[in-house]
Amino acid sequence: MSELRSFDASLELYRRAIEVIPGGSQTNSKRASAYALGAYPIYAQNADGARIQDVDGNWYIDYVLGLGPITLGYCYPEVDAAIRAQLERGIVYGLMSPLEVEVAETVCEMVPCAEMVRFLKGGAEVTTAAARIARTHTGREVILNSGYRGWADGWLAQSTGMEKGVPDCLGGIIDSFARPDLDSLRAKLEQHAGNVAMVALDPATGGNRVPDGYHQGVRDLCDEHGALLMYDEIVTGFRMAAGGGQEYFGVTPDLACFAKGAANGMPLGIVCGRADVMRRAIDDTVISITYGGEALSLAAGMAAMNVYRAEPVFETIWANGARLMAGFEELGAKHGVPLHCHGYEPMSSQTINYDDPAVSRDAWTLLLQEMAQRGVLLRRGGLLFITYCHRDAEVEETLAALDESLAVIAEAVDEGTVADRLRVTEVKESFRSFA
Ligand SMILES: Cc1ncc(COP(=O)(O)O)c(C=O)c1O
Repeated sequence: MSELRSFDASLELYRRAIEVIPGGSQTNSKRASAYALGAYPIYAQNADGARIQDVDGNWYIDYVLGLGPITLGYCYPEVDAAIRAQLERGIVYGLMSPLEVEVAETVCEMVPCAEMVRFLKGGAEVTTAAARIARTHTGREVILNSGYRGWADGWLAQSTGMEKGVPDCLGGIIDSFARPDLDSLRAKLEQHAGNVAMVALDPATGGNRVPDGYHQGVRDLCDEHGALLMYDEIVTGFRMAAGGGQEYFGVTPDLACFAKGAANGMPLGIVCGRADVMRRAIDDTVISITYGGEALSLAAGMAAMNVYRAEPVFETIWANGARLMAGFEELGAKHGVPLHCHGYEPMSSQTINYDDPAVSRDAWTLLLQEMAQRGVLLRRGGLLFITYCHRDAEVEETLAALDESLAVIAEAVDEGTVADRLRVTEVKESFRSFA
């Protein structure tokens, strides 16, 4: 490794940010303290394909990828051309855009449960819309949920330690169940018998592999109790398969939500599902936003979906994800670092587990620091995402950087110098405290 990369321009911007932006960031998971503040870039100014450039001019192979929306790669030519072409014709009208019809028809072709579709923006919006639709359709109040669905009151009222600022009275309308444990869901359905509108989960269950039969078991329990099943496909959608986790697992929910990945970085949220459920609920309640038919995102979504259908996007992501996971396991073993991979190839997570949790945490921070120095951006928690643009060169460069970084970690652990080698000023775990 040559001279140390500097993060001076990033740190100067951050110094200004924390004076005017609470937390310094718009997104909790992007907070500088969630990475390795002082030893990791904070601000980006450019990106291309699988790579991103920070404001100090350093380039990196990126595995954070906007926290998930970039599936094809940054500045993907077909998507950017579609955005530019639409920009010449206007962004949002008081009339509707034909793209609304084209993208809705395309979603219905791609996604098994989709018979009707509505467009919103972020993940919290679509999952909140799904809850509204389910409550309207069933006339029931309670939602059983497992996992993060966004920052809206209705989701955070679940007892997860994130309910500050959320009215206590909402506590009764949401309850959680443990995954992947059918007995836990069965017990909650029985506890709230006759009042469960919807069961919500992300089909890859918080990053771990799902036991065979789990999803069919959930489907059967929902049917037995008259509850709708909603898949939050915000991470799995347009990533595990063209039709999301429901296509991959072969189980069709009643409703599904998509956001990240739908439009390769543009804000396009999708709530879709059974026509009878969607039509009646949308007529009987209010789900409506000014930007629902915003045409730049729809143009990007249409172009991205055309690429998803025409090219081996998901096969490539799975294959390269598999090579990375195998490489991480092999190199962990080679260096005697307890680094392990979990979950599914397009969106895997990694853990480093020493007996002492403080050493595990510091070893992660050291890994972030050392990989950043070698031109690779990981996130605490691992690889998480890859794009269609992560190809042989990126896989090889990443594994070469990991080989060197794990050698540093192994030596530091042997010497008991892990914490001393960190050039960070502050470290915090990710804000999400539950699976
Ligand atoms: C599975 C899942 N659902 C919902 C959300 C919320 O999405 P957004 O941040 O766009 O509101 C996220 C965000 O990370 C997510 O991972």
